[in-house]
Amino acid sequence: MSNDGTNPMRPYLGVLAGIKELAADIRLFQIELQNATGKAAFADYMPGQFAFVSAFGAGEAPFGITSIPGRGELLEFAIHRHPHGKTTNALHSLKLGDPVGVRGPLGNWFPMDEIKGKDIIVIGGGIGGAPLRPVISTILDDRENYGGLTILWAARNPSLLIFTEEYDSWRATPRTDLHLTVDQRPPDWREGNEGLITTLLENVGPSPKNAITITCGPPIMIHFVALSLRKLGFTLDQMLVTLEGRMHCGIGKCGRCNLGDIFVCVDGPVFHHSQVAGLMESFL
Ligand code: FES
Repeated sequence: MSNDGTNPMRPYLGVLAGIKELAADIRLFQIELQNATGKAAFADYMPGQFAFVSAFGAGEAPFGITSIPGRGELLEFAIHRHPHGKTTNALHSLKLGDPVGVRGPLGNWFPMDEIKGKDIIVIGGGIGGAPLRPVISTILDDRENYGGLTILWAARNPSLLIFTEEYDSWRATPRTDLHLTVDQRPPDWREGNEGLITTLLENVGPSPKNAITITCGPPIMIHFVALSLRKLGFTLDQMLVTLEGRMHCGIGKCGRCNLGDIFVCVDGPVFHHSQVAGLMESFL
């Protein structure tokens, strides 16, 4: 039975309205919610929020919402098929028109109004960078109200870079730079650099003056990016990060995602690095 809005653990019914190959084993799922209650719940989600997506009969898992608020009704999620992941394998086996469940929107979001007027450095690693797409789009849609936008984007190899068809429009926007790096660069790939994202970051060397960084990716990457940012003169308060919680309920009830006193699902997933720096070890 679909959610009538009274039970936060019950998903809203959706159907798969689009499936796009984003990268190796990573697909963009476009979901159309099927009833008014679900559409109302997702009417004004924000960049950074997440939702649980379920393949009926297989399970549900949390994913950052990667669609752009206010641009159409379809909800989008970039989903990586994990070799042993029951839910992601089941989702990847679905076809257009198949039913799915969506539970959310959940968690907090990036403070897009607070960071207006600042230079923004967006740092994304692999599939973990997916929630940054609505951040980038929000800035590009309101370009004059933000300072410079520097996008640092990384993956293990070029076939794992996501949203590649959007790079040209990102690059073409005034005061916007895109820098790519991969761990292993094939000889014929000339679009970016080879090496770790921390090396790229230190080479690009953004100024901390009136700037904010937003980092999404695996916890180990967030940790080392923060060390590089410190070297460049950024304070922990200038760093926004998202954490990947080990989540079950997503609504602050089960305790599975706690990190010290923090529940990633309701206090996050977006944090100032200063809130979580001392708690990161359990994630590394
Ligand atoms: S996932 Fe259950 S409390 Fe956060």
